[in-house]
Amino acid sequence: MTKLSTKHLLGIKDLGKEDIQLIFSTADNFKEVINRPIKKVPSLRDTTIANLFFENSTRTKISFELAEKRLSADVVNFSASGSSLKKGETLIDTVNNILAMKIDMVVMRHPSPGAALFLSRHINSKIINAGDGAHEHPTQALLDAFSIREKLGEVKGKKVVIVGDIMHSRVALSNIFCLQKLGAEVMVCGPTTLIPKYISSLGVKVEHNLRRALEWCDVANMLRIQLERQDINYFPSLREYTMLYGVSKKMLDSLKKEIIIMHPGPINRGVEITSDVADSKESIILNQVENGVAIRMAVLFLLAGRTDQ
Ligand code: CP
Repeated sequence: MTKLSTKHLLGIKDLGKEDIQLIFSTADNFKEVINRPIKKVPSLRDTTIANLFFENSTRTKISFELAEKRLSADVVNFSASGSSLKKGETLIDTVNNILAMKIDMVVMRHPSPGAALFLSRHINSKIINAGDGAHEHPTQALLDAFSIREKLGEVKGKKVVIVGDIMHSRVALSNIFCLQKLGAEVMVCGPTTLIPKYISSLGVKVEHNLRRALEWCDVANMLRIQLERQDINYFPSLREYTMLYGVSKKMLDSLKKEIIIMHPGPINRGVEITSDVADSKESIILNQVENGVAIRMAVLFLLAGRTDQ
């Protein structure tokens, strides 16, 4: 397989295992490129990419922009704050105006689930979903699985627990799809109020006891509590949440085996993990960030290469 089966990257749900493997093998090459003294290749010269961020981002926004620049694309950045959205302009009008400027690809983060799909139905450019509400964050899941593959040799057969606010997490859903397609076993762990009832229908295990979850897994992916998406109180206090679902170094050291700690960021140090866990030898959090650039280069390169639309 040399090209992706999809025109856009809207979600992991739309990808096949072969698509993911193609993205990984392409990212292997780009990872080598970004570790060279000269980190740039001309692959996307004359391609113009718009990064449309209607919601805050640090890692994803910087990572996409860096990936685009490493591929020699022309890049324009748009943030909702300070734009004419504040004057009542709709999403489709904002985007149509940007596209009148001849944009080839759009990377978009938006607070509404389905925003990237909506865009793909209305404009001709290739769309990459950089996170749509609590729905999907496909490049995050790809870089997470790529980082597990790098650390453990393969994803197939590995046991991965996703801990925390599953209910409001696009990272959780995309990770579940991606890890299962690659043959991993997936568990979610958290308080009952933060685990949606439908989740077991996706074929994941559900565990409410953190110690049991950590004893089961090879990899723990720790999620942030997304207070900004929580319309009611899902647990009594952050302090109580941390007592039941926060991972400390003492807890890690008391396990009978070594596990890998991941986090998509941003981390709330002292809530879902303590600082000494974030900075421990078990943590691959900064490897995830480095791999994000290579994965995004691979996705951009492969989608740009599709000429059959
Ligand atoms: N992991 C992630 O999406 O981080 P940002 O919100 O900073 O982009």
